[in-house]
Amino acid sequence: MNNDRRKFIRQVGSLAIGGLALSSCVHYVPHNVRDGMIVIRKSDLEGKRNFMVRPAGSAAPIFVSRDDKEQYQAVLMLCTHKRCTLRLVGDVLECPCHGSEFSPAGDVLSEPAEQALSRYAASSDTNNIYIKL
Ligand code: FES
Repeated sequence: MNNDRRKFIRQVGSLAIGGLALSSCVHYVPHNVRDGMIVIRKSDLEGKRNFMVRPAGSAAPIFVSRDDKEQYQAVLMLCTHKRCTLRLVGDVLECPCHGSEFSPAGDVLSEPAEQALSRYAASSDTNNIYIKL
């Protein structure tokens, strides 16, 4: 992603009011934890492509997103630079501490962070999404 696009997304995200900038509106969804697996019912998503869960004991929320191929990806919203909790700005996970940026898949887009976010294996069936802790 080039800098102009990132800047534009950031500006749109900061102008978000209510549900206008949909990718910036990320909500926690209900979940259960069973046998080391987070289970999220698709019926609880209300069509959301991006959402968060925070299981008990987690150092930060887990950001879950669905890509165009209907595959889910899940990353820990904890910066790999100095462990600040990330926030979603546009379609980028941004660190409020020193400005690192990450893709929804956890790849580093901007330093100072050099390591990708912690990723969790995610899968789904007709009714549920499963994230392996
Ligand atoms: S803690 Fe995130 S960039 Fe430094």
